[in-house]
Amino acid sequence: MLFEPLQIRGLSISNRAWMPPMCMYSADPAPGRAGFPTDFHVAHYAARAAGGAGLVTVEATGVSPEGRISPYDLGLWDDAQISSFARLTAGIRAGGAVPAIQLAHAGRKAATDKPWLGGGSVSETDLGWLPIGPSPLAFPGLPVPAELSRDEISAVVAQFAAAARRADAAGFDVVEIHAAHGYLLHSFLSPISNKRADEYGGSLENRARIVLEVAGAVRAVWPESKPLFMRVSATDWIEENPHDSRDAWTVEQTTQLARWVAELGVDLIHVSSGGVDQVPVPNDVDYQTRLAAEIKRDANVLVGAVGRITTPQQAERLLAEGEADAIYVGREMLRTPSWANDAAIELGARPRFIEQYAYTQPSARA
Ligand SMILES: Cc1cc2nc3c(=O)[nH]c(=O)nc-3n(C[C@H](O)[C@H](O)[C@H](O)COP(=O)(O)O)c2cc1C
Repeated sequence: MLFEPLQIRGLSISNRAWMPPMCMYSADPAPGRAGFPTDFHVAHYAARAAGGAGLVTVEATGVSPEGRISPYDLGLWDDAQISSFARLTAGIRAGGAVPAIQLAHAGRKAATDKPWLGGGSVSETDLGWLPIGPSPLAFPGLPVPAELSRDEISAVVAQFAAAARRADAAGFDVVEIHAAHGYLLHSFLSPISNKRADEYGGSLENRARIVLEVAGAVRAVWPESKPLFMRVSATDWIEENPHDSRDAWTVEQTTQLARWVAELGVDLIHVSSGGVDQVPVPNDVDYQTRLAAEIKRDANVLVGAVGRITTPQQAERLLAEGEADAIYVGREMLRTPSWANDAAIELGARPRFIEQYAYTQPSARA
């Protein structure tokens, strides 16, 4: 099943072994070049496409300069950036995959350093900026964000839509809205980070309002024939912890959110977890894929599973048991760009570019 095609709206995706968004922290932060993909990004994404992935998701891309996780992230806040992203979509398409992009606002977790340099806050006097959030509450170790006004919330919604229009112009076939990992949209969803008393805080409807507005605004400009995905954190991993009694974001609330955004035209929910606070996370191999299965069962939407999926057999089992509709392989695809082709050979399916890569080894063609 991993190498069965999947049709969503007008798009046919050749298989279900997909690459999730992964920040490379490799853009040039200099004014005038900030946010632009580089030759490295073109090579990096094209390699995973040629390696057999059905869909390749370009990393979290800021809808505004302040929406970047780090000064080294990609961004699509300016029409001048479109042509550089068109090089990414061309490379991914030439490699045989569907080009997707994750549109993101990092919120109160913005303006941080490269993780291999410690990932701490980058100050305003250096390359950083003051982060924004639903409430003036800091993520542990990061600065207190400025609370967004209602007008500023509307501006963020418009920024997501404008970035989606640019993603279409750059040739992307799928947009994934980033509503996970404690970044801006998730920080509105979770009562851990959202203490607002207006219509954007309090009840589930209110906490979800900005996410529904973003989904609606993006769908309105994103072509009808093209799929729209949303990445969610299915839980804050607080309700599951018997030693933590705080009110938090849960799987039940995620299921309701999935139903609401599906009505607005979101086609697939990409199920991740955590990120709003520093809390213990289970470390069993199914820790996250079981959340995907739960949401697929209860919300009746297409679901992408991710997290600690490393072998073709594991991916195949999740599909065969109906726990997911697509499989995202993250770190293992960083390590092995040809993960999907290798999986196809192992499962007896046909890898991409088999002639070019394997004609000297007749046994591999069987
Ligand atoms: C280097 C790196 C960068 C990441 N960047 C993003 C990102 O831009 N957006 C996102 O939603 N998740 C990001 N993630 C999370 C991955 O998409 C994925 O969910 C996670 O690595 C778990 O999957 P895996 O076990 O297959 O690696 C990142 C992970 C890694 C390792």
